Amino acid sequence: MKSALIIFWSKTGNTEKVAKAIEQGLQQSKMKVTIKKPEDAKALDYFDFDLVCIGCPSYSWHPPEPMSNFLKLKFTEYRQKGKIKLSTPKISGKHALIFVTYSGPHTGIDEATPVGKDIRQYFEHLGFNVIDEWYVLSEFHGSLENSTQGRLGDIRGKPTAEQLQAITDDAKQIGKILLKDQ
Ligand SMILES: Cc1cc2nc3c(=O)[nH]c(=O)nc-3n(C[C@H](O)[C@H](O)[C@H](O)COP(=O)(O)O)c2cc1C
Repeated sequence: MKSALIIFWSKTGNTEKVAKAIEQGLQQSKMKVTIKKPEDAKALDYFDFDLVCIGCPSYSWHPPEPMSNFLKLKFTEYRQKGKIKLSTPKISGKHALIFVTYSGPHTGIDEATPVGKDIRQYFEHLGFNVIDEWYVLSEFHGSLENSTQGRLGDIRGKPTAEQLQAITDDAKQIGKILLKDQ
């Protein structure tokens, strides 16, 4: 059986919805899924899983502090264990998926992509194959202005149930592909 670890941080619930949609899809593909918040994931080893999914919102086009602290902590641990190698050989069968929620009120998706690229590097430095970065446009809870008058228009209610279902379907597909790769 293939296994997946989902680690997410969410303040107003958007990233949590996406994390749970991914969890459902992976479970539907018959993967064994563990889902954690960063504070509960410190002792877990990425290398014990076939797929590691990491998600957070964009905060001033960076990962929020609890997520970046977590990523740095794990990176330091792996560096001390000699897992960060020059030229970064790819490790067979180790995959990562990154998901970022954002509202893009000022510059649109450009103020979210640096988050995905940043997280991607932590996994590429470990030799993981990064399957994809998913950017999910989401309501800016607590700010009507940012949810209706920003670069991307009226984003209230996003991600919608249909969008979350599409995420579940995509995650299921990823799970199926990984399961074939025995
Ligand atoms: C302090 C703060 C900073 C934010 N900065 C950005 C940003 O730089 N770019 C962006 O697209 N959205 C930004 N947002 C919007 C959030 O990324 C977006 O609403 C996200 O989906 C919230 O995720 P959550 O509900 O999981 O906490 C910011 C929100 C807050 C509260």
